[in-house]
Amino acid sequence: MSSTMPQPETSPIVACTVSRDVQNFDLLIEDMELALGENWGDLGFAEALAFFGQPEAKSLEFIALAMDETDEENLVLMGEIIAQAKARNIKVILIAEDVTPASLHSLLRQGADEFVPYPLPENELSEAIDRVRAAEKQRVSGGNTPRLQSDEQKEGAVIVVHGLAGGTGATTLAVNLAWELATQDKENGPSVCLIDLDLQYGSVATYLDLPRREVVFDMLSDTEGMDDEIFGQSLLTFQDKMQVLTAPTEMLPLDLISSEDITRVLDMARKHFDYVLIDMPSTLVSWSETVLNAAHVYFAAIELDMRCAQNTLRFKRALQSEDLPVEKLRYVMNRAPKFTDLAGKSRIKRMAESLSISIDVHMPDGGKPITQGCDHGVPLALSAAKNPLRREIAKLAASIHELNSNDAQAA
Ligand SMILES: Nc1ncnc2c1ncn2[C@@H]1O[C@H](COP(=O)(O)OP(=O)(O)OP(=O)(O)O)[C@@H](O)[C@H]1O
Ligand SMILES: [Mg+2]
Repeated sequence: MSSTMPQPETSPIVACTVSRDVQNFDLLIEDMELALGENWGDLGFAEALAFFGQPEAKSLEFIALAMDETDEENLVLMGEIIAQAKARNIKVILIAEDVTPASLHSLLRQGADEFVPYPLPENELSEAIDRVRAAEKQRVSGGNTPRLQSDEQKEGAVIVVHGLAGGTGATTLAVNLAWELATQDKENGPSVCLIDLDLQYGSVATYLDLPRREVVFDMLSDTEGMDDEIFGQSLLTFQDKMQVLTAPTEMLPLDLISSEDITRVLDMARKHFDYVLIDMPSTLVSWSETVLNAAHVYFAAIELDMRCAQNTLRFKRALQSEDLPVEKLRYVMNRAPKFTDLAGKSRIKRMAESLSISIDVHMPDGGKPITQGCDHGVPLALSAAKNPLRREIAKLAASIHELNSNDAQAA
């Protein structure tokens, strides 16, 4: 044990006991020494609060907050210590001797991560340390990643969304369609994987408030070496309902990945999930063709303006000149005029006729709540459930799921 106030000398202090007098907890001293050697210090209650603000506290992984019945008068101070520790991502292991359940409950409610009774049962402290360390590792790596079973063979349906001009609502559609599909069936919801292939400006992570992580880049840059486990680690679970492959942390050139990479990633995703949703970049890239070929449905998002009309024409021509399967395209008119807007409706009709396309899906303008929902990082079903845009996307998801279920039954 080091002297009263932690002195970072050679190796940093990774933990501190915090108590009225640590000598009352000699078993704790022994177990701390066993687990951490010299790399810990001990602090009094008031000292702890002062120490948190100092640079040396940066290396702290956890505090072992030790108390007995005498300290129950000081619950407010202890609550403050827990709050301050949590604010700095320092974990709290509560060590308590003869403390009433009510006090314990209150301290755990305030955020203590672990509770170990004193006298310490054998190995309990070191196991609690392992658990707080594992939790921290998971927090830093960005939360939940799924464990995928390597023997799965789902052959999921691939649904792609591609905005034919910037800002046409492609990502909004991809994210919310993924969520609506994942929540189609309360008990036995289909499994859904949402993949952001807009490697540069991908905003799926923003719309679902997920961190962008290095592992995504690692996985994409070596798809040959990718297996079920590596793929699983590059995914993040969103609200226990769906898995998401966000865009990588850094902005990457779109040709960083090849058609072979895309094929491997899509095959892997299809193997594990009933639905694989893809958000494409607006730009056509060398692997666009691969995605189109793999797609079961390919939604092309447009709006009612000249820019989208011209882009659609060029997009269609590009596909036709390469003999690509244009029949997979389903045009989605975003911010479509209302049912009652007859002039708007006839403009859509004229646009469809002049481009020789059929516009099958009409998404209404949902106003400000849409952008607010996106900014809050939750699907519309959770932020604006009654919004007309959400209703339309939910309808679309239901019809896709019904079709897919019928196909599966027929097969
Ligand atoms: N039907 C709608 N009603 C209201 N707001 C919408 C609608 N569709 C999209 N938005 C808003 O428009 C903005 C752009 O949408 P989104 O990011 O989905 O488009 P995108 O086509 O993916 O854009 P990018 O070209 O940047 O990838 C967002 O702020 C979104 O909330
Ligand atoms: Mg987008």
